Amino acid sequence: MLPGHPYIHYSNGTLHVEQCDLAPLANQLGTPLFVYSKASMLAALAAYQRGFAGRNAQICYAMKANSTLGVLQVFAQAGCGFDIVSAGELARVLAAGGEASKVIFSGVGKTRAEMRTALEAGIGCFNVESEAELEVLNAVALSTNVRAPVSIRVNPNVDPQTHPYISTGLKGNKFGIAHERTLATYQRAASLPGLHVVGIDCHIGSQITLESPYLDAMDRVLDLVETIEAAGIPLEHIDFGGGLGINYQGDTPPEADALWNKLLTKLDVRGFGKRKLMIEPGRSLVGNAGVCITEVLYTKPGEQKNFCIVDAAMNDLPRPAMYQAYHGIVPVQQSSATQQEVVYDVVGPVCESGDWLGRDRPLAVQAGDQLAVLSAGAYCMSMASNYNARPRAAEVLVDGATAHVVRTRDTLQDLLRGEVLPPASKTPD
Ligand code: LLP
Repeated sequence: MLPGHPYIHYSNGTLHVEQCDLAPLANQLGTPLFVYSKASMLAALAAYQRGFAGRNAQICYAMKANSTLGVLQVFAQAGCGFDIVSAGELARVLAAGGEASKVIFSGVGKTRAEMRTALEAGIGCFNVESEAELEVLNAVALSTNVRAPVSIRVNPNVDPQTHPYISTGLKGNKFGIAHERTLATYQRAASLPGLHVVGIDCHIGSQITLESPYLDAMDRVLDLVETIEAAGIPLEHIDFGGGLGINYQGDTPPEADALWNKLLTKLDVRGFGKRKLMIEPGRSLVGNAGVCITEVLYTKPGEQKNFCIVDAAMNDLPRPAMYQAYHGIVPVQQSSATQQEVVYDVVGPVCESGDWLGRDRPLAVQAGDQLAVLSAGAYCMSMASNYNARPRAAEVLVDGATAHVVRTRDTLQDLLRGEVLPPASKTPD
């Protein structure tokens, strides 16, 4: 077993996801190839379910982490709702068999058309992020003849102590409504005929590895609930967002059940233990369930750096380029003790110096070997692009010893889809 990856292990010298040997799988399907463990996802979900046992709670998987239909189906069948941020994500939930009534719609920039689509589908709640959005949603709801269930995303101004690009609950962030404006915004929402106030929500950031920001945010949100209800506006549910981190490089985030034990104790002490709860975890449900297999194309020794050039790149695994993020990189075939390790920068074929997957990694590899990039279940495929006209990778969902291809690799035809050449202009005489 690899530390932090209970469903990924070496067996007979090759890396396996559950009982599935990755070497023949990658030979058969080609690389780069994403492989996910269903059991790992369900185990991560079970930690939350244990934490909420006996409570009135709805887990809404934040599908931006990985929105592949095969992954969504796992969570839909396990009874999850979904946190979405676009009409495209709603379409994916419905295509995967998710229930619209368990969908919450977050995001600072919902369009009128997206609001209409979501209202007509009958989603459970809009997490409204600004006063202007409230007015627009009211107008759309009145014209659609469907009352919009709303929660207001408050910004608790708590520092989640994570990467600045993924911290969202501070005053300087674009997300949520400022603490000071919350009551006035609720009063306005309650007065609008197209809206039905159902809850309150917050989300303070992502890859959070400490308990304290959650405890602080909970206090701030509960203070607001008291103020809002004292003003005569009842709130059916409280949504604490997502953000729990995973182990990328020896990180030690709390387990979901341990964290929620503490949070629920606080909730009980403050008299909100019976309230309906919602949460929106993404990364912690899928991040360490996935790997990306890539083949070494060339090794390129240099005076300052040695490069290990692989066939996966920043278009497949954008996190290192975007956030200097660390992903473990391990060989698929365990190297023999006689093979010499060399320190490499593992880089992709994209024409940018930012196209690296790992820096200063000791590896005993040669061209043709396969490597596995770890922690690739979250924010990899869902952020993948076709940059450099590279086909997006295939994806496999492993269930025990069975490997289901849940997305085929983009074809060259796929890369050209939707584009139209204007009629060729005549060359001047
Ligand atoms: N709810 C809301 C409103 C969110 O904005 C997010 C993530 C989540 C829930 C889920 O957060 P999680 O449990 O996954 O931390 N691309 C970045 C992460 C961006 C997170 C955006 N919002 C990365 O690769 O680290």
